[in-house]
Amino acid sequence: MTSLLPTLPGAYYTDPAVFAAEQERVFEQMWFCAVRGEDIAAAGRYRTVRVGRESVLVTRNSGGEARAFLNVCRHRGAQLCADEEGAVKRTFRCTYHAWSYDLDGRLVAAPNLVKMPDLDRVEYGLRPVHAREWLGYVWVCLSETPPSFAETVQGACVERLGDLASLERYGIEDLSLGRRIRYDVRANWKLIIENFMECYHCATIHPELVHVLPEFAGGYAAQYYVGHGAEFGPGIEGFTVDGGAGVTTIAGLAQEQDRRYFAVTIRPQVFLNLVPDHVILHRMYPLAPDRTVVECDWLYLPEVVAQGHDLTNSVELFDRVNRQDFEACERCQPAMSSRAYADGGVLVPSEHHIATFHEWLRDRLR
Ligand code: FES
Ligand SMILES: [Fe+2]
Repeated sequence: MTSLLPTLPGAYYTDPAVFAAEQERVFEQMWFCAVRGEDIAAAGRYRTVRVGRESVLVTRNSGGEARAFLNVCRHRGAQLCADEEGAVKRTFRCTYHAWSYDLDGRLVAAPNLVKMPDLDRVEYGLRPVHAREWLGYVWVCLSETPPSFAETVQGACVERLGDLASLERYGIEDLSLGRRIRYDVRANWKLIIENFMECYHCATIHPELVHVLPEFAGGYAAQYYVGHGAEFGPGIEGFTVDGGAGVTTIAGLAQEQDRRYFAVTIRPQVFLNLVPDHVILHRMYPLAPDRTVVECDWLYLPEVVAQGHDLTNSVELFDRVNRQDFEACERCQPAMSSRAYADGGVLVPSEHHIATFHEWLRDRLR
């Protein structure tokens, strides 16, 4: 049994051809966690997000269902919605020649439409993208034949936590957004995933996190063992920057979920962090080989958010962790194109599970 395993070679983190292949075979094929459902709470509210090489328009129809479309006008291809978010009453109207589409993507109006009987309104509707809601998020898939949601997205949670029931106890779909922070990270998305998967770095760069979760000082991540959650240290009252009390605990958690932190990686772009009084969900949007936007949501019980509880200490813990992590990733990115890293580096035993991620990626790109 060797104690060292190879990483991916540096070019995987810099080569535009690798990035293009990832967009095509990973992000445009798999389920992608696009937006929080409450961001598009009302019919006609929308957000546009980048998924692989496409801009995707995510909205809600009058029946309350999430809908997603390619953000491209079917007339001459103008981008339909230029803003990252907004709201329309009943239709999306292209600013070029005023073709208008309803919230289900049907072409409903265009100048001189009646004089063009051969212009089929169904045929020239917006190109739909598969969409479904889970955990209070809208997940989209650009593939015409999406992979099984149960096997891929939910399967990742089962693999990590042992079952779906333990995740359902957090009632993530009913939580409210307490805080959102967007990080523009100058690093390849895989560096961010790999970093999230291991805790060998915890003792070095995360003093506040290790204070709350002393077992992290040992270098073994909460993701290392199935069903394992890292336990709060003695005297720690909550998952906060100073270990002081948090806010109201989510009712219905099991005994073994109290005073513990669980983490799940849902490939390819979601990190889920579960603690007794809140849930932190990261979504990555890879924009370039060396640039990834990470949108991080802190979710609490609705009454906690509605009553305006002070979330500062609660949010600050993982905000610091994020900044510490992303700074480390940004420190690695330039080295990915160095000849010193042409053959990659090594994974020590507490990082060996990252090799599974590399195998999975190579498999998808093959
Ligand atoms: S390109 Fe949209 S209406 Fe012409
Ligand atoms: Fe970290």
